Amino acid sequence: MSSYVTRKTPGDTEWFRRDRFGMFIHWGLYSMPARHEWIKNRECIPEEKYDKYFKYFDPDLYDARDWARRAKAAGMKYAVLTSKHHEGFCMFDSAYTDYKCTNTPAGRDLVREYVEAFRAEGLKVGFYYSLIDWHHPDFPIDMLHPRRNDPDCLEQNQGRDMRRYAEYMRNQVRELLTNYGKIDILWFDFSYSKQEPLPGREWMKGKGKDDWEAEKLIELVRSLQPGIIIDNRTEIEQDLWTPEQYQPLEWLRHKETGELVTWEACQTFSGSWGYYRDESTWKSPEMLIQMLVNTVCIGGNLLMNVGPTSRGEFDPRARKALQVYADWMHGNARAIYGCTQAEPEFVAPRDCRFTQSEDGKRLYLHIFAYPYAHIQLRGLAGKVDYAQFLHDGSEILFTEGKVAHFSEGAAEAEDLLVLEIPPVKPDVVVPVIELFLK
Ligand code: GLC
Repeated sequence: MSSYVTRKTPGDTEWFRRDRFGMFIHWGLYSMPARHEWIKNRECIPEEKYDKYFKYFDPDLYDARDWARRAKAAGMKYAVLTSKHHEGFCMFDSAYTDYKCTNTPAGRDLVREYVEAFRAEGLKVGFYYSLIDWHHPDFPIDMLHPRRNDPDCLEQNQGRDMRRYAEYMRNQVRELLTNYGKIDILWFDFSYSKQEPLPGREWMKGKGKDDWEAEKLIELVRSLQPGIIIDNRTEIEQDLWTPEQYQPLEWLRHKETGELVTWEACQTFSGSWGYYRDESTWKSPEMLIQMLVNTVCIGGNLLMNVGPTSRGEFDPRARKALQVYADWMHGNARAIYGCTQAEPEFVAPRDCRFTQSEDGKRLYLHIFAYPYAHIQLRGLAGKVDYAQFLHDGSEILFTEGKVAHFSEGAAEAEDLLVLEIPPVKPDVVVPVIELFLK
C-alpha cells in the first residue's frame, strides 16, 4: 500500500484521487466575443453592449453527449462546467434571475443537458460557480468590476447590497444542488480580499469569505450534498487545493500542519479558459501528456480545460488536443488511475518520472526523453519480477548489478537494475514501462 496519507476533509475525495483526470469546461456568453472569459472586465464593456451577446447567444450545435463521449475517450473521469462565470450569466434555468440561457435564443437549460449526458457516460459531474458577478445589481463595484473606470462609479455603487447578493448565491447554489441529482464537485471561484485597492479608490475593496458569507454557503452545500467535494476558493478551507496555470514540483502540503492535501492543478490547452479564437499558444502533445504525468507523479489531479465555441462545439484545436490524451490514455491509463507518487525509495532516473499503483505492486516509468540504450534504475535490483512496455505489453529485458556490455566503464553497482531499451522509440508520446514488483 502507498505510504502517503492525505489530510482528512469533510468531502468524499477517495474516488477523486483514484480518478486523477477531469475536464474543465468554460462556457458562457464570453465565447461569442471569443477573446477571453474576462473580456467584460478587460474591455470595461457596458451592459448595453454586452447585452448583444445575450440577445444572440444560440448554441445550436451543442450536443452534450458528444462532449461527454470526447471527455471519456480522452480518459477523463469527471467534469466541471461553469454554471455561472464572473460575467454573471447563468447556464441553467434559475428562478432568481432573468439573466439565464433559457431567455436567450438557446432556449434550454444547458447545465441540465450537460449533467445528463456526462452522467450517462459514467462520468462524475461538477459545477463551477463564480462568487464574482459583474452583472448582478447588488454586486459592489471594485477593482475587478467592469464599471471601475466610470466617472460616476461611486454613485453607481450606492445602494448595492452585498448581503442581498450573498443570499442570491445561496438561492442559486440551492437550485444547483437540488434540481440536478447528485453533484460530485462544487468549484467556487474566487476570493481576492487581499488585493490592494487602487490609490484614491479605497472604497473599492477586494472580496473574501465574509463578503460571500462563505460559512453559511458551505453549510448549505453540506446540508444538501454532504459528500460533495468543495474547493478552497471561498477562503474557507474545504477539500480541494487548486493551483492554477502552473505545475507544482512537489505534493502540496497544508500550510500549518504540513500534511499532504488533496489537490488538483487546473490547466488550459491554450492561454485562455473561455473560447479564444485568435489565441495561439496551444500546448504540444508532449506538454499535454507530460503535464498529466507531472501532476500524478506528485499525488495530484489534473483538470484540463476546454472552451467550447458559442455554437456549442469543441473547436478542431481542442478536439486534436483531446485526441492526444485519448491516444495516450488508451494504452497507458493504468499508469494514471489509482496511481500516485512512488514510494520515496524509488527515485526516477534522468528524464523520467515514476508513478506507482496505490497497492504498491506496480511501478510505472514514464520516459520523457528517449535514451539509448539503457535506463539505469538505482535501488531496484532484486525487486522487479517482470517489465514491459505498457502500451503494447511487450517485454523489456533487464539485467541486475551492471550494464551488460563488455565496454570498459560500463556501470556497475549492487543495487542497479538496467532496462534494455529498444533503439527505436515506440510511436507513443510518452512511452511507459510497467515494472511488476516482487
Ligand atoms: C481564475 C479566473 C478564471 C478561471 C479560473 C479557473 O481565477 O478568474 O477565469 O475560471 O481561474 O481556475
